[in-house]
Amino acid sequence: MKNKIRSPFFYVGDKYKIMPQIIELFPSNIRNYYEAFLGGGSSVLYVEAEKYLLNDNNKNIIDLHKYISSYSKKKEVLLDKLFKLIKKYQLSCSYLGLTVPEDLKKKYVKTYYSKFNKENYSKLKNDYNEDKDISKLYLLLIYGFNHMIRFNRNGDFNLPVGNVDFNKNVYEAILNYLSFVEDKKIEYSTKDYVDFIKETNFKERDFIYLDPPYLISNSEYNKNWTSEDEVRLYDLLDFLNEKNVYFGLSNMTDHKGNSNEILKKRMKKYIVHEIESNYISRFDNTVKKNSREVYVTNYGKEKR
Ligand SMILES: C[S@@+](CC[C@H](N)C(=O)[O-])C[C@H]1O[C@@H](n2cnc3c(N)ncnc32)[C@H](O)[C@@H]1O
Repeated sequence: MKNKIRSPFFYVGDKYKIMPQIIELFPSNIRNYYEAFLGGGSSVLYVEAEKYLLNDNNKNIIDLHKYISSYSKKKEVLLDKLFKLIKKYQLSCSYLGLTVPEDLKKKYVKTYYSKFNKENYSKLKNDYNEDKDISKLYLLLIYGFNHMIRFNRNGDFNLPVGNVDFNKNVYEAILNYLSFVEDKKIEYSTKDYVDFIKETNFKERDFIYLDPPYLISNSEYNKNWTSEDEVRLYDLLDFLNEKNVYFGLSNMTDHKGNSNEILKKRMKKYIVHEIESNYISRFDNTVKKNSREVYVTNYGKEKR
């Protein structure tokens, strides 16, 4: 199985941990790779295709992808820019050895990053809300609570500081991402998934991967996702299937006592692959099996 590859957005709800299982079930020899709910893009980093068409209706995450990608041929310039900002705002940075003082570490054993960075993170946030400089948005995401992007009604970024900083993992994820995008043909869009699918003229060997908000789990980007969205999604899958377009869908049928009945009913006509997620352990019977992650396809495939 492939090693795990991390996207530099550390997006909440990313597919980082389970992607090595899912990629084994993708079709081989993809011409155009479509992703309707790109998020932090942890899936696309595994995919070999001739062209990539990547969509998410959150314009900020797409802007961040475009921004980071634009440095694929000048990696050092991007890192230099980010490190200058980190130093300007006096944030801790494990990667650069700008660490939190020992007395603070002892006093707040589990929360010292957030204690140390709180005030300066707020300054960064205020400045970003003034100038909307996207490099600041990237750092807000890296240092922010749960690595989320959250704006209030006035359009101001309003996430509190997280208990994390710019460490070796962030550095390596940026370099890895830049190497991936460097020689790829990529187009981004910010459409609603229905338009993204309906407006596409799919061709042979095209493949679409869908990792929608999960109806039965809680997260920032799930809160606007309704049962109607869920139904529209399966209608679209049927539409794709009629057009002989291969699709792969990630979702959860059960989670913490909640059940997605729409999914359970609609996935019956397709092939359902069981995916081992954090909540399920095939090797440990003592883990309560109250969550079920699935990968649904309209194509059968030998494992690569
Ligand atoms: C589960 S996340 C995708 C995570 C991604 N696979 C990753 O690994 O980071 C779902 C994404 O769907 C996006 N989304 C929600 N509603 C949407 C809609 N109606 N059309 C397009 N994208 C939508 C959210 O902004 C969010 O980024």
